[in-house]
Amino acid sequence: MNITLSTLNKLKSEGQKFSCLTAYDATFANVVSSAGVEVILVGDSLGMVLQGKDSTVPVTMDEMVYHTECVRRGNQGSLIMADMPFMSCSNDEQTYENAARLMRAGGHMVKVEGGAWFTNTISKLTERGIPVCVHLGLTPQSVNKFGGYKVQGRDEATREALLKDSIDAEKAGAAILLYECIPSCLMEEVMASVSIPVIGIGAGPASDAQVLVLHDMLGATPGKVAKFVHNFMPDGDGSIQGAISAYHQAVKNGDFPKPEHGFE
Ligand code: KIV
Repeated sequence: MNITLSTLNKLKSEGQKFSCLTAYDATFANVVSSAGVEVILVGDSLGMVLQGKDSTVPVTMDEMVYHTECVRRGNQGSLIMADMPFMSCSNDEQTYENAARLMRAGGHMVKVEGGAWFTNTISKLTERGIPVCVHLGLTPQSVNKFGGYKVQGRDEATREALLKDSIDAEKAGAAILLYECIPSCLMEEVMASVSIPVIGIGAGPASDAQVLVLHDMLGATPGKVAKFVHNFMPDGDGSIQGAISAYHQAVKNGDFPKPEHGFE
Protein backbone atom coordinates (compact mmCIF):
# COMPACT_ATOMS: atom_id res chain seq x y z
CA MET A 1 0.00 0.00 0.00
CA ASN A 2 1.31 3.47 -0.86
CA ILE A 3 1.41 5.81 2.13
CA THR A 4 0.09 9.30 1.40
CA LEU A 5 -0.65 12.37 3.48
CA SER A 6 -4.25 11.13 3.71
CA THR A 7 -2.96 7.92 5.31
CA LEU A 8 -1.02 9.91 7.92
CA ASN A 9 -4.01 12.18 8.65
CA LYS A 10 -6.23 9.11 9.02
CA LEU A 11 -3.76 7.46 11.41
CA LYS A 12 -3.71 10.66 13.47
CA SER A 13 -7.51 10.89 13.53
CA GLU A 14 -7.65 7.28 14.77
CA GLY A 15 -5.08 8.01 17.49
CA GLN A 16 -2.54 5.69 15.84
CA LYS A 17 1.16 6.55 15.78
CA PHE A 18 3.41 6.31 12.70
CA SER A 19 7.14 5.98 12.26
CA CYS A 20 9.73 7.78 10.18
CA LEU A 21 13.38 6.95 9.47
CA THR A 22 16.05 8.53 7.35
CA ALA A 23 17.37 6.71 4.27
CA TYR A 24 19.72 7.95 1.61
CA ASP A 25 20.03 5.06 -0.87
CA ALA A 26 17.95 2.46 -2.71
CA THR A 27 18.93 -0.57 -0.61
CA PHE A 28 18.06 0.97 2.74
CA ALA A 29 14.95 2.63 1.29
CA ASN A 30 13.82 -0.87 0.32
CA VAL A 31 14.52 -2.31 3.80
CA VAL A 32 12.94 0.63 5.64
CA SER A 33 9.78 0.74 3.53
CA SER A 34 9.42 -3.07 3.51
CA ALA A 35 9.42 -2.94 7.34
CA GLY A 36 6.30 -0.76 7.16
CA VAL A 37 7.90 2.54 8.21
CA GLU A 38 5.37 5.07 6.94
CA VAL A 39 7.72 7.98 6.14
CA ILE A 40 11.26 7.95 4.72
CA LEU A 41 13.13 11.17 5.32
CA VAL A 42 15.89 11.87 2.81
CA GLY A 43 17.56 14.07 5.39
CA ASP A 44 20.38 16.51 4.90
CA SER A 45 21.86 14.59 7.86
CA LEU A 46 23.48 12.72 4.96
CA GLY A 47 26.17 15.42 5.13
CA MET A 48 27.23 14.12 8.53
CA VAL A 49 26.23 10.44 8.26
CA LEU A 50 27.42 9.65 4.71
CA GLN A 51 29.95 12.38 4.03
CA GLY A 52 31.51 12.73 7.50
CA LYS A 53 31.07 16.49 7.61
CA ASP A 54 30.74 18.46 10.86
CA SER A 55 27.24 19.76 10.12
CA THR A 56 24.48 19.76 7.50
CA VAL A 57 25.42 23.26 6.31
CA PRO A 58 27.63 22.17 3.36
CA VAL A 59 24.98 19.84 1.81
CA THR A 60 23.97 20.97 -1.70
CA MET A 61 20.77 20.78 -3.75
CA ASP A 62 22.46 18.47 -6.27
CA GLU A 63 23.32 16.05 -3.46
CA MET A 64 19.74 16.11 -2.13
CA VAL A 65 18.35 15.46 -5.62
CA TYR A 66 20.77 12.57 -6.19
CA HIS A 67 19.91 10.85 -2.89
CA THR A 68 16.16 11.42 -3.35
CA GLU A 69 16.40 9.67 -6.74
CA CYS A 70 18.27 6.75 -5.13
CA VAL A 71 15.64 6.41 -2.39
CA ARG A 72 12.78 6.56 -4.90
CA ARG A 73 14.25 3.56 -6.79
CA GLY A 74 14.28 1.38 -3.66
CA ASN A 75 11.10 2.62 -2.01
CA GLN A 76 8.26 0.10 -1.57
CA GLY A 77 5.41 2.49 -0.77
CA SER A 78 6.56 4.78 2.03
CA LEU A 79 5.93 8.51 1.76
CA ILE A 80 9.23 10.16 0.76
CA MET A 81 10.00 13.47 2.48
CA ALA A 82 13.02 15.27 1.03
CA ASP A 83 15.00 17.94 2.85
CA MET A 84 15.52 21.41 1.41
CA PRO A 85 19.20 22.03 2.26
CA PHE A 86 20.85 25.12 3.73
CA MET A 87 20.04 28.35 1.81
CA SER A 88 17.97 26.57 -0.82
CA CYS A 89 14.96 28.79 0.07
CA SER A 90 16.52 32.24 0.11
CA ASN A 91 13.95 33.75 -2.27
CA ASP A 92 10.64 32.63 -3.81
CA GLU A 93 11.93 31.75 -7.28
CA GLN A 94 14.80 29.71 -5.91
CA THR A 95 12.47 27.94 -3.44
CA TYR A 96 10.00 26.91 -6.18
CA GLU A 97 12.75 25.64 -8.47
CA ASN A 98 14.52 23.68 -5.72
CA ALA A 99 11.31 22.19 -4.31
CA ALA A 100 10.28 21.19 -7.85
CA ARG A 101 13.65 19.45 -8.34
CA LEU A 102 13.09 17.34 -5.21
CA MET A 103 9.55 16.45 -6.28
CA ARG A 104 10.74 15.47 -9.78
CA ALA A 105 13.45 13.35 -8.17
CA GLY A 106 10.79 11.32 -6.34
CA GLY A 107 9.89 13.27 -3.21
CA HIS A 108 6.23 13.30 -2.16
CA MET A 109 6.78 16.36 0.01
CA VAL A 110 9.60 18.65 1.12
CA LYS A 111 10.87 19.53 4.58
CA VAL A 112 12.09 23.01 5.39
CA GLU A 113 13.79 24.30 8.51
CA GLY A 114 12.05 27.54 9.38
CA GLY A 115 9.82 29.57 11.61
CA ALA A 116 7.55 32.57 11.24
CA TRP A 117 9.62 34.12 8.41
CA PHE A 118 8.66 31.16 6.27
CA THR A 119 4.84 31.22 6.40
CA ASN A 120 4.42 33.04 3.09
CA THR A 121 6.58 30.47 1.31
CA ILE A 122 4.70 27.56 2.93
CA SER A 123 1.45 28.95 1.48
CA LYS A 124 2.96 29.43 -1.95
CA LEU A 125 4.48 25.95 -2.15
CA THR A 126 1.26 24.38 -0.88
CA GLU A 127 -0.84 26.34 -3.40
CA ARG A 128 1.43 25.03 -6.14
CA GLY A 129 0.92 21.39 -5.11
CA ILE A 130 4.01 20.81 -2.97
CA PRO A 131 3.17 19.63 0.56
CA VAL A 132 5.49 21.04 3.21
CA CYS A 133 6.79 19.68 6.51
CA VAL A 134 8.04 22.48 8.74
CA HIS A 135 11.02 21.57 10.96
CA LEU A 136 11.07 23.62 14.20
CA GLY A 137 12.96 23.61 17.49
CA LEU A 138 16.60 22.66 17.02
CA THR A 139 17.03 23.29 13.30
CA PRO A 140 20.51 21.91 12.52
CA GLN A 141 21.12 24.25 9.56
CA SER A 142 21.16 27.06 12.17
CA VAL A 143 23.75 25.37 14.38
CA ASN A 144 26.11 28.31 13.96
CA LYS A 145 23.42 30.73 15.13
CA PHE A 146 22.52 28.54 18.14
CA GLY A 147 26.19 28.05 19.06
CA GLY A 148 25.82 24.25 19.12
CA TYR A 149 23.21 21.48 19.12
CA LYS A 150 21.18 22.77 22.08
CA VAL A 151 17.66 22.01 23.31
CA GLN A 152 15.34 24.84 22.21
CA GLY A 153 12.26 26.33 23.89
CA ARG A 154 13.53 26.17 27.47
CA ASP A 155 12.85 29.81 28.30
CA GLU A 156 9.46 31.50 28.21
CA ALA A 157 10.17 33.70 25.16
CA THR A 158 11.38 30.88 22.86
CA ARG A 159 8.65 28.56 24.19
CA GLU A 160 5.98 31.08 23.19
CA ALA A 161 7.68 31.79 19.87
CA LEU A 162 7.78 28.08 19.01
CA LEU A 163 4.10 27.62 19.89
CA LYS A 164 3.22 30.61 17.72
CA ASP A 165 5.36 29.26 14.86
CA SER A 166 3.49 25.93 15.03
CA ILE A 167 0.09 27.61 14.82
CA ASP A 168 1.22 29.99 12.05
CA ALA A 169 2.75 27.13 10.04
CA GLU A 170 -0.50 25.16 10.21
CA LYS A 171 -2.52 28.24 9.19
CA ALA A 172 -0.15 28.80 6.26
CA GLY A 173 -0.91 25.28 5.02
CA ALA A 174 1.92 23.13 6.40
CA ALA A 175 1.00 19.44 6.12
CA ILE A 176 3.27 18.17 8.91
CA LEU A 177 5.36 19.67 11.70
CA LEU A 178 8.64 18.13 12.85
CA TYR A 179 10.03 19.17 16.23
CA GLU A 180 13.62 18.43 17.19
CA CYS A 181 15.07 18.74 20.72
CA ILE A 182 12.48 20.61 22.72
CA PRO A 183 11.28 19.87 26.26
CA SER A 184 8.68 17.08 26.40
CA CYS A 185 6.19 19.41 28.13
CA LEU A 186 6.44 21.89 25.24
CA MET A 187 5.65 19.09 22.80
CA GLU A 188 2.49 18.40 24.84
CA GLU A 189 1.50 22.05 24.38
CA VAL A 190 2.21 21.87 20.64
CA MET A 191 0.01 18.76 20.37
CA ALA A 192 -2.84 20.63 22.04
CA SER A 193 -2.41 23.62 19.69
CA VAL A 194 -2.34 22.09 16.19
CA SER A 195 -4.35 19.50 14.29
CA ILE A 196 -1.83 18.40 11.63
CA PRO A 197 0.44 15.37 12.25
CA VAL A 198 3.52 16.14 14.35
CA ILE A 199 6.78 14.16 14.21
CA GLY A 200 9.27 14.37 17.08
CA ILE A 201 12.95 13.66 17.68
CA GLY A 202 14.30 14.41 21.12
CA ALA A 203 10.91 15.91 21.93
CA GLY A 204 9.32 13.30 24.23
CA PRO A 205 6.55 10.77 23.72
CA ALA A 206 3.56 13.07 23.02
CA SER A 207 3.88 13.48 19.23
CA ASP A 208 2.01 11.51 16.56
CA ALA A 209 5.21 10.08 15.12
CA GLN A 210 8.92 9.68 15.72
CA VAL A 211 11.95 10.00 13.47
CA LEU A 212 15.51 8.82 14.01
CA VAL A 213 18.59 8.85 11.84
CA LEU A 214 18.94 5.30 10.48
CA HIS A 215 22.64 4.91 11.34
CA ASP A 216 21.96 6.04 14.94
CA MET A 217 19.19 3.49 15.57
CA LEU A 218 21.33 0.71 14.06
CA GLY A 219 24.10 1.53 16.55
CA ALA A 220 26.48 2.40 13.69
CA THR A 221 27.23 5.96 14.77
CA PRO A 222 30.68 6.19 16.37
CA GLY A 223 31.19 7.97 19.68
CA LYS A 224 28.62 9.38 22.05
CA VAL A 225 25.07 9.49 20.72
CA ALA A 226 22.29 11.87 21.74
CA LYS A 227 20.06 11.06 24.71
CA PHE A 228 17.05 10.52 22.41
CA VAL A 229 18.75 7.75 20.40
CA HIS A 230 18.12 4.08 21.10
CA ASN A 231 20.08 1.27 19.44
CA PHE A 232 17.43 -1.17 18.15
CA MET A 233 19.86 -3.87 16.96
CA PRO A 234 19.57 -5.91 20.19
CA ASP A 235 15.75 -5.53 20.10
CA GLY A 236 15.22 -7.42 16.85
CA ASP A 237 16.39 -10.81 15.54
CA GLY A 238 19.98 -9.66 15.03
CA SER A 239 19.42 -8.48 11.44
CA ILE A 240 19.12 -4.92 10.17
CA GLN A 241 15.60 -5.74 8.98
CA GLY A 242 14.77 -6.99 12.49
CA ALA A 243 16.06 -3.80 14.13
CA ILE A 244 14.04 -1.59 11.79
CA SER A 245 10.90 -3.67 12.38
CA ALA A 246 11.50 -3.46 16.15
CA TYR A 247 11.78 0.34 15.87
CA HIS A 248 8.59 0.56 13.79
CA GLN A 249 6.64 -1.61 16.25
CA ALA A 250 8.01 0.28 19.28
CA VAL A 251 6.87 3.61 17.82
CA LYS A 252 3.47 2.22 16.79
CA ASN A 253 2.90 0.71 20.27
CA GLY A 254 4.00 3.90 22.04
CA ASP A 255 6.98 2.05 23.58
CA PHE A 256 9.48 4.44 21.97
CA PRO A 257 10.40 7.07 22.89
CA LYS A 258 10.17 6.66 26.63
CA PRO A 259 10.13 9.69 28.96
CA GLU A 260 13.88 9.22 29.59
CA HIS A 261 14.60 9.86 25.89
CA GLY A 262 13.17 13.38 26.25
CA PHE A 263 14.29 16.64 27.86
CA GLU A 264 12.71 18.46 30.80
O1 KIV B 1 18.25 15.60 8.24
C1 KIV B 1 17.70 14.88 9.08
O2 KIV B 1 17.96 13.67 9.17
C2 KIV B 1 16.71 15.47 9.96
C3 KIV B 1 16.26 14.67 11.14
C4 KIV B 1 17.29 14.66 12.20
C5 KIV B 1 14.94 15.12 11.65
O3 KIV B 1 16.31 16.57 9.75
